[in-house]
Amino acid sequence: MSIDAETTGARKPRTFPLYKTLPGFLRNPLKEIERIGREADGELLRLDLGASKPLVVTHPDHVQSVLRHSDTYVRDGVFWRPLHGLMGDGILGEGDLWAFSRKILQPVFTTRNVNALTGRMAETINEAVDDLAGRAGGGQALSAGAEMVQIVNRTVIRIFFGEKILPAEIDRLLPAFEAVATKLVFRFLLPFVPEAIPMPGDRAYREGVRIMDEVMYGLVERYRDDPGEGDDIFTALCRARTADGGEPSDTWVRDNLVAMFATSTETTSTALTWLWPTICNNPEVALRLYDEVERVVGADPVGPEHLPDLTYTKQVVQELLRLYPVGWLFPRMATQPGEIGGTPIKPGQTILISPYLTHRLTAFWERPLAFDPDRFSPERSADRHRYAYFPFGGGPHQCIGMHVFNVEAQLIIASMLSRFRPELLETSAAIEPRIGATIRPDQDLQLILHPLDRSS
Ligand code: HEM
Repeated sequence: MSIDAETTGARKPRTFPLYKTLPGFLRNPLKEIERIGREADGELLRLDLGASKPLVVTHPDHVQSVLRHSDTYVRDGVFWRPLHGLMGDGILGEGDLWAFSRKILQPVFTTRNVNALTGRMAETINEAVDDLAGRAGGGQALSAGAEMVQIVNRTVIRIFFGEKILPAEIDRLLPAFEAVATKLVFRFLLPFVPEAIPMPGDRAYREGVRIMDEVMYGLVERYRDDPGEGDDIFTALCRARTADGGEPSDTWVRDNLVAMFATSTETTSTALTWLWPTICNNPEVALRLYDEVERVVGADPVGPEHLPDLTYTKQVVQELLRLYPVGWLFPRMATQPGEIGGTPIKPGQTILISPYLTHRLTAFWERPLAFDPDRFSPERSADRHRYAYFPFGGGPHQCIGMHVFNVEAQLIIASMLSRFRPELLETSAAIEPRIGATIRPDQDLQLILHPLDRSS
């Protein structure tokens, strides 16, 4: 690899022109991105997409300098506009309103506070898995993706709203959010299409936003003046006060709720959907995982007390996010002149960072395509570059839900594997990743969950 961050002379990044990449992009965009990443092998590269020429940054040193310098490389530009339109200027924005939102929300996600939420999370997960057991009986195939969505949404809503949201509001919120997310994917993947040009799902999107706003503002109206006690996110937002003691606007509360919901649901359910094909195709990993869950949890309902001993389960989750980092693309825009690895950067330049590419660089990962949770054993993790692995981003915008995700994922996996053994239907064996807003399987995975016989 010819990387030299100390280079003094200006370097020109290697360019991949559209006429060479278009056929591949049309056939399979993710495979083409992967091929380009492999060829550039950690060097800065320029994608010539005609209307735009983003720089793609994959080397951990370069990723680090972009993510840490969040004043120079901001979340703006064509990729972010559809998101900003929906989520305003809260936790997913920039500047003062982002800093204020982060200051209010961060305390909800400290290890101490998440640990306090873990009992409630485990309870919700065990209830959801009980319901699943009803559907799984009789050996019929279930959609792995849909089941993960059910469990995750139920858990997230509990963490977000505690007991404050009504079941009828949940029933309206979830489909509305789904319609909004589906439409956003089109805009995210085709960022250069002007807003004025209609896209699939436009009408469903508007209706989805209307319903979501009705539910969110309804909650705000009911609880804003008297949020009561609660360690949930909604209560924290309702109780927030500005530096001079003033109340932030209702819109600020709504924008943050929408942003948090968007960042916490699909990411988590998609990451967990990958578990099933991965363990079914890696029987040795599956056996070690079953062994650990049996030894630590056995026939008990899973609870916070089991987490410290679910060490291999945690490594499986880490490795899942290495191979399938569901948040696969972080776009940034330069606001001032800068330099990355010797290449001068002009203001207005779009920069793309992708953990999917960095997590597959052979200079940092041995046999990068193999699923090997032991990479995350303490001995093998010790010397790793901080930015060789960054499924949750880094720098000031690092994911605040990282710890919640880790706890939630371990609890869901342990709860399910203490009850069932999975079998993937033959038709779901040859799955491939596909890009959308997240990296997800290219087909609906059909899974049979065989109940464990605990009678003897
Ligand atoms: C597999 C699960 C998840 C993944 C892979 C993930 C990934 C990420 C990434 C990559 C970022 C940085 C984005 C950027 O730099 O532009 C981020 C930010 C964020 N995530 Fe997550 N996330 C996950 C789960 C969650 C959960 C469960 C929550 C909340 C409960 C959450 C809340 C947030 C928030 C609020 C931000 C914005 C932070 C800021 O800009 O200050 N995420 N996430």
